[in-house]
Amino acid sequence: MTSADIRQRFLNFFKERDHKVLPSSSLIPFGDPTLLFTSAGMVPFKPYFLGQASPPFPRVTTCQKVFRSSDIDVVGHDGHHLTFFEMLGNFAFGDYFKEKAIPYAYEFLTKHLAIEEKRLWAGIHNDDDESDQIWTKTGIPPERIRRFGDEYNFWAAGPTGPCGPDSEIHYDWGEEYGCGRPDCGPNCEYCDRFLEIWNLVFIQWNRDESGIRTPLTKKGIDTGMGLERITSVVSQKQSLFDTDPFLPLIEHWEQETMPGAARCCSPTGSSRRTTGAAMSSDV
Ligand code: ALA
Repeated sequence: MTSADIRQRFLNFFKERDHKVLPSSSLIPFGDPTLLFTSAGMVPFKPYFLGQASPPFPRVTTCQKVFRSSDIDVVGHDGHHLTFFEMLGNFAFGDYFKEKAIPYAYEFLTKHLAIEEKRLWAGIHNDDDESDQIWTKTGIPPERIRRFGDEYNFWAAGPTGPCGPDSEIHYDWGEEYGCGRPDCGPNCEYCDRFLEIWNLVFIQWNRDESGIRTPLTKKGIDTGMGLERITSVVSQKQSLFDTDPFLPLIEHWEQETMPGAARCCSPTGSSRRTTGAAMSSDV
């Protein structure tokens, strides 16, 4: 399955569940003084989450091109951070909330991309018992659900605006990729065994300049899954640079700059030297 197949499957999945498929909007946000670039799929929809404009559709799905500089220092040091990437997302403006967003995500990953259930872990906010229950009911057992504070499980597009707790879905590459610590799990500081693939944000507040969070009249759903990351999982390549959005480009430039040179990756592809052209994200 190529990245193009995954993109199409995602949009079709949500279209079949009454989401309007919209095109990616510009990389330069329109009329948003808080952002230089579109840094997430939800950016074009901020006025709808905030109740400042009436959404033309209650549910939307997109594949949005995004640019993030927050992780720029780690680009090239691992195989899973990018600056420019495509973000798959489904959004609901006062329509459905966690009770649907979580099962939708799980169904898409396990039934439509055939990802093994035992590989999926969920990170939830410390205070979010509701997501805990929904995940357990949906299929992730308690031993694969971990709780974290705002550092990992709270999301906002910037210092102000729509925000809320989130639940991240992590893919487990397997024990052999881990640090072996007994508490190794999602967001492990010592190894790359777990890869965050999808973030489900439960938008419920508007945060102002002084950090005060005011509850929104209508709660919203904002999800984001990096197309390149999910492609790396589906193609079982730990490095994004070994997947189809990048490989042809890298091979082309290898040939152009080093004609006749051997390919730079190991037989497993896992130690590919990364190029400075790559990109970064924490989806
Ligand atoms: N807006 C959320 C993110 O970018 C989904 O992680």
